[in-house]
Amino acid sequence: MIITLLLPFLFVTLSLARSHPSRHSRRSFSPGFPYGSETVRGVNLGGWLLIEPWIKPSLFDATGNPAIVDEWTFTQLQDRSVATAALQNHWNTWITEADFQAIAAAGLNHVRIPIGYWAYQVGPGEPYIQGQHDYLVKAIGWAATYNLKVIIDLHGAPGSQNGFDNSGHKLPFPTWQSNQTNVARTNDVLKLIANEFSSNPNVVPMIGPLNEPAGFDGQQMLDVTRQYWYDSYGSIRYPNGQLGDIVPLIHDAFQPLSYWNNFMPRDQFTGVAMDTHIYQMFSDQQVALSDSGHIQSACSNAARLIDFNQNQLWTIVGEWTPAMTDCAKYLNGRGVGARYDGTISPGAPRYGSCVGMTGSGSTFTMSYKTFLRQTWEAQVITYEKASGWLMWTWKTEDADEWSYSAGLQYGWIPQNPNDHLYPTICG
Ligand SMILES: *[C@@H]1O[C@H](CO)[C@@H](O)[C@H](O)[C@H]1NC(C)=O
Repeated sequence: MIITLLLPFLFVTLSLARSHPSRHSRRSFSPGFPYGSETVRGVNLGGWLLIEPWIKPSLFDATGNPAIVDEWTFTQLQDRSVATAALQNHWNTWITEADFQAIAAAGLNHVRIPIGYWAYQVGPGEPYIQGQHDYLVKAIGWAATYNLKVIIDLHGAPGSQNGFDNSGHKLPFPTWQSNQTNVARTNDVLKLIANEFSSNPNVVPMIGPLNEPAGFDGQQMLDVTRQYWYDSYGSIRYPNGQLGDIVPLIHDAFQPLSYWNNFMPRDQFTGVAMDTHIYQMFSDQQVALSDSGHIQSACSNAARLIDFNQNQLWTIVGEWTPAMTDCAKYLNGRGVGARYDGTISPGAPRYGSCVGMTGSGSTFTMSYKTFLRQTWEAQVITYEKASGWLMWTWKTEDADEWSYSAGLQYGWIPQNPNDHLYPTICG
C-alpha cells in the first residue's frame, strides 16, 4: 500500500527532474484539441483493427467453427493462411477513406480507434496475427486529410483486462492484473504508440492507455489499474523522455466517477481526461426500463458528469449508444442470446420481443426510429454538459440500432449534430 501511494509522487518528481533541466527550458503544454473548451463529438471505429463477433458476425460465421468466439480463437482455431486472408480482407474493406470523409461530413471532430497490443507485440504462445498497424497509420493519414482527431485506444492487453471478447481474448476471469509481465508489456506497447505519434499531436491528440479494466473484479484489478494509470501518464505525457502534448484518456474502470476524485489533481498532472462508458442493456434492471425510463436514466447522468468535468478531469463519454436492448446478434458473445427476450439462459426472465429491435434500419418502425432519435438526443445533450462524447460505433453489419452511419442513413441521427428535434427532452 505504501509503495502504491508513493510511486506516483516519486515518478512525477523524477520525470520533472529529467524533462526540465531548468525552468527556462520548460515549454508549455499545448494539446492538439482544446479539450474542456471545445466539445468532443465523435465515433468509435469498433470491430475494425480488433474484431468483435457482434459487429461483423459473418466474419465468425464463415469459419464454421462455433468455438471461434474472439480474435484469439479466430487466429488459433483455423488455418493460419485462411485467418490471415480473412483479416486482411476485413481490414481493407471494413473502414476506408470514404468513412473518414463521411464522419467529417456528419459534423464530428474525433474518431476513437480500438487496437490490441498484438498489433505491436506478439508473445510466445500467442496465436495473434499482425498487420493492423499499417491500417492504423493509414487511418491517421485519412484523419489528417479530413481534419479529424484520432484517439488511439489500447483495447486489448496481454492476459485480458476484463475477459470480454472485445479485449481479444474471452476468459472467465481476466489475468492481466495478476501477472506483472502482462502489465509491463502493456506499458511497453503504450510507449511504442506514444513515441510513434508524439510528433503528431494535432492529429493524435489523445491516447487511451487501456480500455475498460474490470474494476468490478476486485481490489487487485483496481490497485493494478491505478498504478498503471500513473505509469501510463509518464509514457504518454513524456514520450522519449521529453514533455509532449498527447493527453491520456484514462478509464473509470467501471467505478463511480467520484471514486477517482483527487486521483490525478490538475495542479500535479497536466492534461488528463477521464473516459466513462454508459450503456443501458447489460443488466436485467436496465433492460426492464420503459422507454421514458431509459430517457430519464440518460438525462440523470448530467450532475455527476458536470461535477467531475469541472472539479476533477475533462470527462468524455467514450462509449454509448442509442440502442436500449441487447438484442443485437452476438452482442453478449458469439452463440449467446439476449437478456431482453430471455434467450440469454434457460429460465431467464423475458422483457419483450427482439423482433424489429435489431437488424436493418429499413425494418424499424417509425415509432422505434423516433425513440432512437430521442435516446440519441437525450445522451448528446447530457454528455455535452461535460467534455463530449464518442458513440459506439460507426458501422455494424447487422445491428443498425448501434450504427452511427445507419442512423444518418435512416434519419434517427441528424446530419448536423446541432439539429435537435427534442431540445427539452431532459427538462
Ligand atoms: C505472465 O504472462 C506472460 C505473458 O505476458 C506469460 O508468458 C507468463 O507465463 C505469465 N506468468 C504466469 C505465472 O502466469
